[in-house]
Amino acid sequence: MNHKTKSFIFKSLDILPNSLGYGIYHQLQKFLNRNSVNFKIKTNGRSFKEALQILEKEGIDLKGKTILELGSGWAPIIPYSFTHFANAAQVVTYDINEHYDSKTINKLNTYYKTNYQIEIAAENGKYALPNNVTYYPKTNLADEKTHFNEHIDLVFSRFVLEHIPPEDLLKIHQSFAKKLPKSAYILHMISPSDHRAYDDKSLSYYDFLKYSPEEWKQKHTKFDYHNRLRLPNYLEIFEKAGYEVVSLGYDTCDTNSEKYRKFKELTLHKDFQEYTEEELLAGSINVLLKLK
Ligand SMILES: C[S@@+](CC[C@H](N)C(=O)[O-])C[C@H]1O[C@@H](n2cnc3c(N)ncnc32)[C@H](O)[C@@H]1O
Repeated sequence: MNHKTKSFIFKSLDILPNSLGYGIYHQLQKFLNRNSVNFKIKTNGRSFKEALQILEKEGIDLKGKTILELGSGWAPIIPYSFTHFANAAQVVTYDINEHYDSKTINKLNTYYKTNYQIEIAAENGKYALPNNVTYYPKTNLADEKTHFNEHIDLVFSRFVLEHIPPEDLLKIHQSFAKKLPKSAYILHMISPSDHRAYDDKSLSYYDFLKYSPEEWKQKHTKFDYHNRLRLPNYLEIFEKAGYEVVSLGYDTCDTNSEKYRKFKELTLHKDFQEYTEEELLAGSINVLLKLK
């Protein structure tokens, strides 16, 4: 769906009462996601492989470990990957929303049976999840009162941090620092680019950097919130919460590319003019953290 149509729908939903707006949003997302399970399995699979390489490089073995996923999304693709292909003991997965959908999960379970001959023994609660995957929807980890029953060895997130307001990001990491074992690692995969550019090839991946905070607020809603944080902003938050960077990787932008040409055409808002080009352009950020 093109970003202008998407934006129009989100803005229309945003003026409805919260419960009605969210209700329609969820139905719409479920419909769209059911038809893209195979695509999601492929793209999540690529991220999972990348995550394993980062962890292996640091000698981190997940066998028998417990993983906390931040931002479950629409289907337990990452939890199944960790438990089946990295031998993790269990995954507990948290989301501020409840996007899981029975039909999508049934499709994923069938995919596992057909493609990997893995029968998902679905016996865990409302959705057809196995015993070693526990879903905690409608839970805000920025909330002081959220506590974890399990001994967490690794926190993992994929394409989630850019959708969390900076003040909540700090609270979440301060809470991790307080509540998780000191030995726990945190691996975040962050996509700091303007997501509207995925659907609209005429837009720069950095287009949103031309707007003031007020203008950007008018451009998006709670359904497609993006914090626009740049690499140094994330690093500052992690450091403030007491974490040190174990490894850091990110994409740079080739100065001969179309992507760079479009970036150079933008007039950056003054809030972004003090950053170096490398800081502004850093994309696909993978950062592994540990308590200092
Ligand atoms: C773009 S989706 C990514 C989902 C999944 N990780 C994936 O890679 O497909 C972002 C997810 O983060 C969730 N999310 C946003 N803010 C959150 C928060 N503060 N705590 C937990 N989840 C959050 C959203 O509800 C959504 O499910």
